[in-house]
Amino acid sequence: METKPLIIKNAEQVITLKGSSKGPLKKGKMNDLQILKNGCVFINEGKIAGVGTEEELASVYGELMKEAEIIDARGKIVLPGLVDPHTHVVYAGSREEEYNMRLNGSTYMEIMNNGGGIHATTGKTREASMDELIEQSKKRLDSFLLHGVTTIEAKSGYGLDWETERKQLLAAQELNKMHPIDIVSTFMGAHAIPAEYKKNPDAFVDLIIEEMLPKVSEGKLAEFNDVFCERGVFTPEQSKKILLAGKKLGLIPKIHADEIEPYEGAELAAEVGAISADHLLKASDEGIKRMAENDVIGVLLPGTAFFLMAEFAAGRKMIDMGMSIALSTDCNPGSSPSVSLPFIMNLASLKMGLTPAEAISAATINAAHAINRGHEIGSIETGKKADLTIMNVPNYMKLSYHYGMNHTDTVIKNGEIVVK
Ligand code: NIG
Ligand code: FE
Repeated sequence: METKPLIIKNAEQVITLKGSSKGPLKKGKMNDLQILKNGCVFINEGKIAGVGTEEELASVYGELMKEAEIIDARGKIVLPGLVDPHTHVVYAGSREEEYNMRLNGSTYMEIMNNGGGIHATTGKTREASMDELIEQSKKRLDSFLLHGVTTIEAKSGYGLDWETERKQLLAAQELNKMHPIDIVSTFMGAHAIPAEYKKNPDAFVDLIIEEMLPKVSEGKLAEFNDVFCERGVFTPEQSKKILLAGKKLGLIPKIHADEIEPYEGAELAAEVGAISADHLLKASDEGIKRMAENDVIGVLLPGTAFFLMAEFAAGRKMIDMGMSIALSTDCNPGSSPSVSLPFIMNLASLKMGLTPAEAISAATINAAHAINRGHEIGSIETGKKADLTIMNVPNYMKLSYHYGMNHTDTVIKNGEIVVK
């Protein structure tokens, strides 16, 4: 890739998170952002070529630096591009009428069990052409980018038949090629039991295991395999079967765990060796302990608790018990129609007790580890992809303190300025 070198100068703080590429941060380490004051970042050929003072970088890159385009970050901070490790961004339609129903007393699960919820979006996604699906999802990606997000995970799960699951996964691959945001794919055929299988859910589990998972793996359509393990959706036994079958085919397990009711999803995540268990609003202490012991990352989605008017996950307690935490929007049309990862970081601090520094670690390097990308994104270190977000605040605490604002100033993806 031929891009002009870039240099970011005079940043009040460069949040480097140096030394975090090997594994997700825990406990005290999540507070240690490895900040460089009045720092410089030199970017060449799409990669971070150097991080340090201007003099240090000039002594190594003197001639090359003269050609570089300069970004003056005076009064601002530089962060690793934000990473969202859990989204359902590829879908058609929207569900504001269900929001209204919930505000009139219906619950999320009641709506789903009456054919709405995930089923409603499944209907719209089945009907949509590939072009419509891409067009609608692309708008959300544009908006993610404007909020400083440079990599996301995206799940299927609004098809619940092979044709539409495949369409969603192919749409994600197409969007990955056409859009600056990198997309990492997850197969989530086990998102709901489709109406056709309501009377025989085990037959749908078999369909996923015998037909869909092998096709996902052969077609290299996803890296991860996720299940909505929830009472009335997939039981822990069914979830385990699906996750282990995927694992045999090379698909890494992820779980929607203990979101609405306690259901031993966190325990299951530890048992099957999931890379992450997500939601965890109702996770048991035993489940948290086992996740911590087995290095399963807890992906917390406070936007979902906010939007469903539910109790927030015990983020503070989880960190104190030794779990690595990442943060995500859960971007989807039913339980969290948002792309604002910075707002999620605000919520994580105000509603789950994460410090502003922990929220940053959780939405950058720990999020990168939750999608197996900790080696190439999530921190500002030489050799990593030049994915950077400049925020128009003079220190990182103000990002969370001055809440409800989009402070994103400039976004650099693979060494190119994509938002300015
Ligand atoms: O993560 N819980 C299951 N899946 C999504 C919601 C999907 C939807 O309502 O469309 C979630 O909350
Ligand atoms: Fe989700």
